[in-house]
Amino acid sequence: MDKIKEIIGQLTPEEKAGLCSGADFWHTKGVERLGIPSVMVSDGPHGLRKQEEGADHLGIHDSIKAVCFPAACATACSFDRKLLYSMGEILGEECAAENVAVLLGPAVNIKRSPLCGRNFEYFSEDPFLAGELSCALTKGIQSKGVGVSVKHFAANNQETRRMTVSAEVSERALREIYFPAFETVVKQAKPKTVMCSYNKINGVYSSENPWLLNGILREEWGFDGFVVSDWYAVSDRVKGLTAGLDLEMPGGNPENDEKIVEAVREGRLEESVVDRAAENILNVVFSCGVKKEGAVFDREKDHARAVEIEENCAVLLKNGGALPLKEGKKVLFVGEFAEKPRFQGGGSSHINAFDARGALDFVGKEVGYICGFKADGTEEDKGEALRLAKLSEAVVVFAGLPDNYESEGYDRKHLRLPDVQNEWIEALCGQNANVVVVLHNGAPVEMPWRGRVNAVLEMYLGGEGVGEACVNLLYGKAEPSGRLAETFPLRLEDNPSYLNFPGDRETVKYSEDIFVGYRYYDSKAQKVLFPFGYGLSYTRFAYKNLEVSASEIDAGTLLNVRADVENVGTRKGKEVVQLYVADKTEEAVRPIHELKGFEKIELAPGECKTVSFTLDKRAFAYYDEKSRDWRCPEGKFEIQIGRSSRDIALKTEIFVRSPDQRKFIVDGNTTVEQLFLHPSTKMVMKGLLAKFRPEKSDGKMGDSDKEMMRAAYLQAPLRTVKLALNMSKEQYEGLLDALNASLKGE
Ligand code: BGC
Repeated sequence: MDKIKEIIGQLTPEEKAGLCSGADFWHTKGVERLGIPSVMVSDGPHGLRKQEEGADHLGIHDSIKAVCFPAACATACSFDRKLLYSMGEILGEECAAENVAVLLGPAVNIKRSPLCGRNFEYFSEDPFLAGELSCALTKGIQSKGVGVSVKHFAANNQETRRMTVSAEVSERALREIYFPAFETVVKQAKPKTVMCSYNKINGVYSSENPWLLNGILREEWGFDGFVVSDWYAVSDRVKGLTAGLDLEMPGGNPENDEKIVEAVREGRLEESVVDRAAENILNVVFSCGVKKEGAVFDREKDHARAVEIEENCAVLLKNGGALPLKEGKKVLFVGEFAEKPRFQGGGSSHINAFDARGALDFVGKEVGYICGFKADGTEEDKGEALRLAKLSEAVVVFAGLPDNYESEGYDRKHLRLPDVQNEWIEALCGQNANVVVVLHNGAPVEMPWRGRVNAVLEMYLGGEGVGEACVNLLYGKAEPSGRLAETFPLRLEDNPSYLNFPGDRETVKYSEDIFVGYRYYDSKAQKVLFPFGYGLSYTRFAYKNLEVSASEIDAGTLLNVRADVENVGTRKGKEVVQLYVADKTEEAVRPIHELKGFEKIELAPGECKTVSFTLDKRAFAYYDEKSRDWRCPEGKFEIQIGRSSRDIALKTEIFVRSPDQRKFIVDGNTTVEQLFLHPSTKMVMKGLLAKFRPEKSDGKMGDSDKEMMRAAYLQAPLRTVKLALNMSKEQYEGLLDALNASLKGE
């Protein structure tokens, strides 16, 4: 630290400003006379996209041969923190061996719409899951002395007009949905850098938003690394620096450095702001930029890990019994993806894969193959394929989205697979009862044939090991254990953002607010294709013995929850035990339930394990825009344990006492309902009713009249109650006093 301050003291104003932008596309600037090295940052993050010549941020030019791991759309489905940590360790080691100081990821933006072209790079529609997994990945990478860049901060949830669009979003939705993944990583994994997003939030570019960068990121969450711009995201450099944007990337725009020097000279910018940015950058340069002796990039070994990781990510969506396939039986593979799988998405995360092979490479002679249809939409005559399908025990169709359907830079327009693929699947179903569809895609697709096929195995964009992993899963050499990290809707139109995606030319309104993904579908009891958290195994699990450490807690004390899960099938397998919290207090409008815990466990047949969770205040709280803080309402909450958001196996209720209660002062506008909800005022109201019982005329009333009376009564403010009950001024004032007195001492 002191050394860095000393160095900063010796920099000329030009050098200092210069440090705040890159030397070129991928390097920070060095200052030789002061021993400041120039360090390299590199894309990824599901592999290393280290470019040596021809730099670009769109994945066009080549990069070194590297191992392509499953993209975040797949790794999120592992629901496995340990797996993500170990993948991080491998990536960190690869970076260390290649002298890359900072890996530009993880990308933790929320999947607001299934159309976002970059969803394959993002983890989930759920902020808790995205936060936990990206935190584990970050810790793994940084354990090797390499930094990460958590991106894209924030509200970058579409590609359409990503460089200029303004996301119009409530503070509550930002705090509950779009920020928490960043918050978790920043608070728990201490990332070395954060990359700001291209877009504006409520009219202000993220690259020059002091509330976002200096306020929330640094002051509230304690971020102590440097903030880097997304590539070319800087609009006003001086404004940006003041707001907390330290490093402008890529380099090559000396005009902006000059603007900084000029602003300081003219007194428009405090020199201390430039010092602080330089210090933030140098801290990372000196801690991550050192050469790590002994680090090796063992491509063979890492490739094998990429296969194993993908085996833990793929999601078995349907199985009518065709899977696992039996060794030695005649099987027909159809679709070009069997030879050349689609295993990654386009754009800046594109890896020059070291060893990408299709499933066909890993099967024996009993498996026949007909290409049938290609990714580009061309097809062969179906005759021979249909004939062979009839003679086979099972048919495996390798389907999925072609490269140009989803990529960085633009969004999808619909959720359909190419028509030719749907036609082939339907035709094959006419010949064979055991059609298995293997999917290669970065985001949900519609499945018009879902009722006709026997099984569906979702590989997502599974990295270069996808072919081998797929065969291992199909034949039961590996057990499917992935669970969906996003809802698959039946139709695009069902998605909550449908009417507001991608917005008009300037803005996109997040009108669905906090109701993103299952928070919307489940609250609305909307039918879906496959729910959040869903996935099958080759075995079955039973849930029992839910226990909570207390049936009543004070908000802020921890609640321990445990449940037993038993493998009641005949094969070993892994289960993802999910915990959802449902607020029953009705204090605020909230989703029907929210994921607040998950654990992945492995169980042998007959084995039973206890799974434990700890819930803190945040698990019960919502963001209250009035007090601009997290509030835990007082009242009942349900703790749910389940296999998916739609399959809750166990539940129990607890009561949370909350010191967060707003100061409750009774006046003429307080309603009867509010008074009955509070235990102290409820007593007073009961006493009042005993005295002023209105004439009983219930007998003559119909049910709807009674219901109307009840509602009118509950909604009535006290000033109306006074009139209805013919209270004198003294009686009314006495009532207000008694009610307020009952609240004393709270
Ligand atoms: C992307 C970033 C990427 C950067 C550098 C940008 O277009 O949004 O995710 O890290 O380019 O390639």
